[in-house]
Parts: sequence; structure tokens; C-alpha cells
Amino acid sequence: MRTFALAAPMSVFVSALAVPALAADDAPAVVNIPAEGSVSESQGLEAFQRIYEVASHPRCANCHVDDRNIPMWSGPSYGETRPHGMNIKAGESRIGAEFLPCQTCHITSDDLDTEPHASPRFGIEWQLAPVEFVWFDKSALEICEQLKDPDRNGGRDWMGLVDHLIHDASLNGPVLWGWNPGGTREPAPYSLQQHVDDMIAWGIAGQPCPTE
Ligand code: HEC
Ligand code: HEC
Repeated sequence: MRTFALAAPMSVFVSALAVPALAADDAPAVVNIPAEGSVSESQGLEAFQRIYEVASHPRCANCHVDDRNIPMWSGPSYGETRPHGMNIKAGESRIGAEFLPCQTCHITSDDLDTEPHASPRFGIEWQLAPVEFVWFDKSALEICEQLKDPDRNGGRDWMGLVDHLIHDASLNGPVLWGWNPGGTREPAPYSLQQHVDDMIAWGIAGQPCPTE
């Protein structure tokens, strides 16, 4: 087993021995890579099922939306599923540059906004995910195919996806916020650490996809 502890923003402590890594205090998650061939396809599929539950959860999917470029309000604390209130559109810029910039309300701040129904915020610029990364209303198979397609995931192999999760979390970006969204919002399921572990297990298993 190779063990890494990634601290903010990208300094890497690598231990070549099979010793549990001591994460730096501010490391958002630890990266433990099991040996090649040690994760079966069915274990990989189980890991993907949990990845799907995270990706399709409102705290993640509400920004990973299609080419209508409209963020969503959904999940407990939002009542019914509906387009973002106040007629918000993100436009092709995905940051609202053509309309009302997201940052007008979703300011960049490391302090969590804990007030119910106030604009959530985090440590980097608030914006929709690129349109190819669409998850909202997509099936497990569709999300699986997108996540393993470098043409639609920002050119990432599975380790690149893991790096994105750790890097984004270390900047207090949406990945960290999703498990700690404030304002009585329901967090994404499991935990960042579990999600990182699942992404690695799914990768080592050869990125198997469910049938539907
Ligand atoms: C506020 C909007 C927003 C939310 C909420 C959000 N994301 Fe994203 N996400 C983005 C943006 C913007 C990018 C593009 C960043 C990049 O590629 O460098 C992105 C890219 C990604 C990627 C890169 C590859 C791909 O295929 O999507 C992953 C993985 C990801 N997000 C995971 C998550 C997870 C997990 C959550 C929930 C815990 C989440 N995101 C919530 C905006 C968001
Ligand atoms: C006029 C202020 C305003 C602007 C501009 C704005 N938002 Fe929001 N947004 C809010 C408020 C307020 C909430 C929380 C509503 C609630 O909790 O009931 C919210 C919530 C959200 C959510 C739901 C997050 C979750 O909990 O799942 C997303 C996604 C979102 N906004 C994306 C955007 C994007 C992308 C833009 C820019 C295109 C944008 N918003 C522009 C005020 C704004």
C-alpha cells in the first residue's frame, strides 16, 4: 500500500512504507492507494454506487447542471425541486457574467454562512461546473461514463479526479462545503474521506460502470 497525506494546497508527504499516514492538521483527506489488483470489480461497483449517491446529491448536483446554465435549488431545506429563485442564469460563462454575477450574493469567504436561506459561500469563486460535467438528473450509468471520459471531465484519469477532490477541499471549495454546507442544508452522504477512498477503489478496480 502506498500512503500519501496531502496538505493545503498541494504539498505532498509520501511514505513508501505500509504505515498509516499521519495527515497534517489541515489535510482535508488522506490518500491510501491499495495494491493494483486488490480491489475486485464488484467492490469497484459498490464504491461507484456510493460515488453516485454523492455526485447526484443536491449539494453536488445543484451546480453540475446542463446547458440551460440554470443552477438548481433542491433537497431538504429547499422544499420542492426548482430552478434557482430570482431568475438567476449563469450564461455560457457559468459565473453569471452576462447577467447577475454569482459573486454578487455568493461572496468568497472561508466563513460558513450558517443562516437558513442565505446565500451559501466558500473559499473560491462561486460558479457552475463546466457544462460537460453535468450530473443533475443523470443516471448512475451516465455519471459513470462522464467521470471516466477525459473529454468530458477536464482531462482527468481517476487519480486526477482524486487530486481534484483533495485540491478543491484544501482551498475550502465546493468539495469541502458539500459535507458542511451550513444553513440547515443536508450535507452530501458519507464523508470526504469515504468519497476519496471510493474514488480510489473504483479507479484501482478499472472504473467499472453499472448497467443503468
Ligand atoms: C458551487 C458549485 C459547485 C458545487 C456545489 C460542486 N461543484 Fe464540483 N465543480 C464545480 C466547478 C466550477 C468545477 C470545475 C473545476 C475544475 O475543473 O477545475 C467542478 C468540478 C468537479 C469535479 C471534476 C471532474 C468532473 O468530472 O466533474 C469533480 C470530481 C467535482 N466537481 C466534485 C464535486 C463534488 C463531490 C461536489 C459535492 C460535494 C461538488 N463537486 C459540488 C462547481 C461545483
Ligand atoms: C441575488 C442573489 C443571488 C445570486 C446573484 C445568485 N444566487 Fe445562488 N443562491 C442565493 C441564495 C439566497 C441561495 C440559498 C437559497 C435558500 O437556501 O433557500 C442560493 C443558493 C444557490 C444554490 C444551491 C446550493 C445548494 O445548497 O445546493 C446554487 C447551486 C446556487 N445558488 C448557484 C448560483 C449560481 C451558479 C449563481 C450565478 C449564476 C448564483 N447562484 C447567483 C442567492 C443568489
